Amino acid sequence: MRDDNGTLFERWVAPVLQHFFLDRDELQAHRDSIDWESALSYLTNPQVSYPRYYREFSCHGFVDGYLCPEAAVAYDPITQYALPPNEDWVRQGVIDAIQGYPTRILDLGCGTGSTTCRLKAAFPNAEVVGLDLSPYMLVMAEQKALEADLNIHWRQGKAEQTDFPDNSFDVVTASLLLHELPPTIAQAVLQEAHRLLRSGGEVIILDCNQKALRQTPFLANFFEEPFLRDYAAESLDAWLGAAQFGLVRTQDHWLVHQISRGVKGVYQPNPEEPLFADLEALEDLEWATG
Ligand SMILES: C[S@@+](CC[C@H](N)C(=O)[O-])C[C@H]1O[C@@H](n2cnc3c(N)ncnc32)[C@H](O)[C@@H]1O
Repeated sequence: MRDDNGTLFERWVAPVLQHFFLDRDELQAHRDSIDWESALSYLTNPQVSYPRYYREFSCHGFVDGYLCPEAAVAYDPITQYALPPNEDWVRQGVIDAIQGYPTRILDLGCGTGSTTCRLKAAFPNAEVVGLDLSPYMLVMAEQKALEADLNIHWRQGKAEQTDFPDNSFDVVTASLLLHELPPTIAQAVLQEAHRLLRSGGEVIILDCNQKALRQTPFLANFFEEPFLRDYAAESLDAWLGAAQFGLVRTQDHWLVHQISRGVKGVYQPNPEEPLFADLEALEDLEWATG
C-alpha cells in the first residue's frame, strides 16, 4: 500500500499520532536540551557502516529512519501505543522468560534501551550491554540509564555481526528487532546470538506475533514496514532451530506479541525418533549377538 506519497501509515497515521498523541513542543524541547554533537561523538563507532536495508528504512513516518534526533526522541512516546495492553507488561515478558542467573547480558537492537534498562534492574549484578546501529537511539538509551542510575554499556554495531568474542554472554535478547530486518539478516542475527552465547546460554526474542499477523494481513499491509510480511510468513521456531538452538519454544504474549526462547548446546530430540531408540538398538544388538 505504498505509492509515491508514502504508505497509509506514513500519510495518515503517523501525522495523526504526531499531532494529537505527542506533545510536539515537549519533544522539541527534549531534542534541543541534548548536546547531540558531543553525545554522538563518543557513542559513534567509526568502524560501523550502515547496510542498505537500514539506510533505506523509513521509521514510522521519519524519512531518515532511526538516524536522526527526531526519531530518537519520538520513539518512546510512540512505542507506548504499539505495545498493548501495556508496555511494562509486554517488556516484562523478556525478563520472565530468562531461566538462569546471568552474569553477562547482551540486548541486540536495543534502541532507546527500554528493555535493556529493565534487564539491568532485574539482574543488577550482571554486566549488561545494549547494542544498536543508531547512535541517536543510543544517546536516548544512555540518558534513560543515567536517569535511572543504571550502569549499562552502550555500543554502536550490527546485531548480525558484532565484534564480541565467542561464548561471551549468558543471555542474548532482542526486542522488536527481527520484524524490521530482511529475513536473511534476521537469521544471521540468530546465528550471531548463538556464537556469542556460552553453552547453556539463553536467547530470548520479543517480537510481533507471527500467527496473528498471518491471520490479519491487513495489519502488515497497513504499517507497510518493508519486511513485516516476510517476517509474518516465517517461523521463529524454525529460524532458531536452524541457528542450532535447542529447547526452542515460542509463546503468544499478551495481545499481539510473542516471546521465543532457545538454549545453546542442548540436544533437542527429533520427534520422529522413538524415545530410547539408542537403548533399543543396543538391546537388539545384544540379542542378535547372543
Ligand atoms: C523497533 S526498534 C526496537 C528497539 C528496542 N529493542 C525496543 O524494544 O524498543 C528497532 C531497533 O533496532 C535497531 N536496528 C535495526 N537494524 C539493526 C541491526 N542490523 N543491528 C543493530 N541494530 C539494528 C534500530 O536502530 C532500532 O533502534
